[in-house]
Amino acid sequence: MSQLILGIESSCDETGVALVHMPQDGGVPTLLSHALHSQIDMHRAYGGVVPELASRDHIRRVLPLTKQVLEDAGKTLQDIDVVAFTRGPGLAGALLVGAGVACALAAALDKPVLGVHHLEGHLLSPFLSEDPPQFPFIALLVSGGHSQLMRVNGVGSYEILGETIDDAAGEAFDKSAKVMGLPYPGGPILSKLAESGDPQAFKLPRPLLHSGDLDFSFAGLKTAVLTQAKKLGDELEARKADLAASTQAAIVDVLVKKTINALKQTGMSRVVVAGGVGANKLLREQLNAECAKRKIRVHYPELHLCTDNGAMIAMAAAMRMQAGQQQPSKTYAFDVKPR
Ligand code: KG4
Ligand code: ZN
Repeated sequence: MSQLILGIESSCDETGVALVHMPQDGGVPTLLSHALHSQIDMHRAYGGVVPELASRDHIRRVLPLTKQVLEDAGKTLQDIDVVAFTRGPGLAGALLVGAGVACALAAALDKPVLGVHHLEGHLLSPFLSEDPPQFPFIALLVSGGHSQLMRVNGVGSYEILGETIDDAAGEAFDKSAKVMGLPYPGGPILSKLAESGDPQAFKLPRPLLHSGDLDFSFAGLKTAVLTQAKKLGDELEARKADLAASTQAAIVDVLVKKTINALKQTGMSRVVVAGGVGANKLLREQLNAECAKRKIRVHYPELHLCTDNGAMIAMAAAMRMQAGQQQPSKTYAFDVKPR
């Protein structure tokens, strides 16, 4: 029997809801509709995500968004077969909203629920694109909280090859942006500004670039950006685009080189990039160029599905169920895993 999966994402500052159709024959699940509310405007005044405000806003948004995705797909609540939600990692209060609503809805409909790992959602999000990848592949997972290189053999079979020993790549973007006085969310704003700057204007460190392993470290880069910003003083405003371009170049350089190393070390010929930083234009350009030279296929989620969304949660649930890795249950005694 084919199944309709409702996915709810509420781990941080986006409320995402989506409907995915999981075919009976084990074919690739498809996205029927999805809706997203970003809290960026609300948190901007505070320079970052305020957890309490995030939770309250998820409460306001999640049911109207659910109604919207059902209407957009021409479905009703009774058509839902499984409710999937993000179990973690993320902000505890924010996660509890998604989990609570998912379990309440499912209990009312007498349907099972399934808690999904947020990063698995990101990892599998390229399967929502028109040209989905095939297993096995190397995954570069780069978000606000994580930077990892993984060997992905199949659904649920993930081997970590390297990860950050301090800040995540998205954090490096966000913290550097803050140092430069750019508004939240730093990553996309810094990257936009970088378009008009000179990436070679400032010499910034590329930590662990030649370490031989596949780990990342970005904390030193942020400190170097801070030192540079202080040194510039009054000149910072005029040189901001150059500093942004140099920072972005340093982060992207490390991500691309380490990804190529992971491909070399494993002999794999396919790579998937996922997570918010996967939306970065320079990262895509440079990785595409390096992979083209080596005849390596690169897959990305569609641009609007790089950052947090409900579609990836419904998709991950569907793929886990299809693979027989996890089955939804009617035990509504939910919990969340912030870490
Ligand atoms: O995956 P995501 O939406 O949330 C987490 O799970 O963390 O990733 C958010 C991160 C933030 O650090 C944000 O600044 C970064 O992704 N990001 C970008 C871009 N778009 C989002 N970083 C660089 N360039 C972008 N275009
Ligand atoms: Zn995320």
